[in-house]
Amino acid sequence: MGGALFDKQNKLKQSAGGITVNTSQLNITAMKPPVFYDVTLRDGNQALARPMTVKQKLEVFNWLVALGVKHIEVGYPNASDMDFQACRAIAEQAPSGMIISVLARCHRLDIDCAVRALANVSQATPRLHTFIGMSQFHMAHILGKTPEEVKDMAIIGIKRAKTMLEATGKQAQIQFSPEHFGDCLVNLEWVISALKEIVAAGADVINLPNTVERTRPAIFAGMVRKVVEALPSNTIIAVHCHNDLGMATATTIESYFEGARQLEVTLNSLGERAGNTNLYETAVALHLAGVPVGLDLSRIYDTALRLSELIGVPISQNAPIIGQESFYHRSGVHQHGAVRTFERAKKAYLPFDPALVGRAGDEELRFTSQSGYAAVLAIVKEAGHLIIEQEARELVPALKEVASGKGELTPEEVVAVYEQYQALKISKTQVGSEDLAALVGDITRDRGQQIWQRVFTRAVAGDHPTATISLRRNGEAITRAALGDGPVDAAFEAIRQITGIPAKIEKYRIDNVTSGGDSLGKVVCCLMHDGRCCEGSSTGTDIVIASVDAYLDALNQLLVGESNGKKP
Ligand code: KIV
Ligand code: ZN
Repeated sequence: MGGALFDKQNKLKQSAGGITVNTSQLNITAMKPPVFYDVTLRDGNQALARPMTVKQKLEVFNWLVALGVKHIEVGYPNASDMDFQACRAIAEQAPSGMIISVLARCHRLDIDCAVRALANVSQATPRLHTFIGMSQFHMAHILGKTPEEVKDMAIIGIKRAKTMLEATGKQAQIQFSPEHFGDCLVNLEWVISALKEIVAAGADVINLPNTVERTRPAIFAGMVRKVVEALPSNTIIAVHCHNDLGMATATTIESYFEGARQLEVTLNSLGERAGNTNLYETAVALHLAGVPVGLDLSRIYDTALRLSELIGVPISQNAPIIGQESFYHRSGVHQHGAVRTFERAKKAYLPFDPALVGRAGDEELRFTSQSGYAAVLAIVKEAGHLIIEQEARELVPALKEVASGKGELTPEEVVAVYEQYQALKISKTQVGSEDLAALVGDITRDRGQQIWQRVFTRAVAGDHPTATISLRRNGEAITRAALGDGPVDAAFEAIRQITGIPAKIEKYRIDNVTSGGDSLGKVVCCLMHDGRCCEGSSTGTDIVIASVDAYLDALNQLLVGESNGKKP
């Protein structure tokens, strides 16, 4: 004995200040690759508000197979008739090369039911997983039994399961779990001696659960090593960690490096309370550590989304690997580093390329009041424009100002600001900070649903003012030309003809945003229709275009009946 966490007297070095690393970590190629044992359909399912139907379980089972998971615990047959039927159906369909496991307490009824559920296994190897609590607390306060009585129950259960499975004529396996193993530091010597007898009674796999996450990763991994060293080398040691304190993945990974071979995991971290060890996190972390995991990691994201939809359990937006926002950069410092390392395999602010888990292109820059010019530069370049750093820096103050009130700006808004800024630079000799503030404010203003959208505007002033307007609704563009008292009046008349809505103009005003002949104008237009009044606005150097946009802004609000409509 004497793993990295134990001193020469074989005492756990709980307070060791130095870094202790098991030498097995240094030679990964000499280690046996991990076996992923998925318990989504058992531990995950038993924690769901609406446990899965047989059909749903079959579907999830197929996704696990596609991911490359070969060891699957498919249910607890004695929990419900539905679970029993699901276990039978999966056992029947599971392909060869797989291990199909079902759970049973060390109780006669549970074991008999589990054996019946496995009876139909056709190509896969059946495994019966039985368990009983072995922490002092569990034995005294839940079971009300002495350690000897508990050990006897385990041995009797294992022998019964083995005899019954052998009678089916199939090559079957037995897995045993001392429940609450994580709480067994004080009686570890006794647990290990009991496990020796349990293995002698026929258990092929010993699974060590950190039920309710009683123990921190380094201590648990040290306990695992003690078991690995004490049991026969052909006994497979598994770890089954819960995430009550958020350390399940760490405990599982460290346990692997201390000799645990089978890693029990779930999809989307499903499982009792805060869930079980996450399959994706464990597989990706080991892969990044150079350990061959034998899974198709590119299926991770798709599988996670499908499962979330199937069972109606959302994925938190910053969940590692599968959270919608887990590859977003919002702070200026991170955006700068991210942009600098976009093309590199090793990225400054991502642990791996999102393509690894099926999320190619999901590394995104989002502009907020915390962002900087690097984001503007990258977002606008990504849209195909030849923006230079100076331009991006000029836009940042106005974008930040708006974002500090409104929150995040969409990449489309940032690109639209750049495009309008370019247009403004052509029509106006000097573009100042006031122009930019007005521009950004106008583009990012929440206009609600855009029922009618402007396609183009052509207007002629002079003796016979005319306007030709083209608008789009539901993908269809309609164009009309009209006369008026001036080009703006003609444009409004063309809009009335296109939309068929004779809205009355209650108020129309143009204000200069900046000074000078080429200044930006802000148009405000109030429309009255059917007893409701809505105000729209738009800013631009072309007064006719700004007027059309302000009119459409008011009209769209009238049509969606938004709250700013009021009775006269
Ligand atoms: O968390 C646990 O202790 C379990 C056992 C049944 C293995 O799920
Ligand atoms: Zn569990």
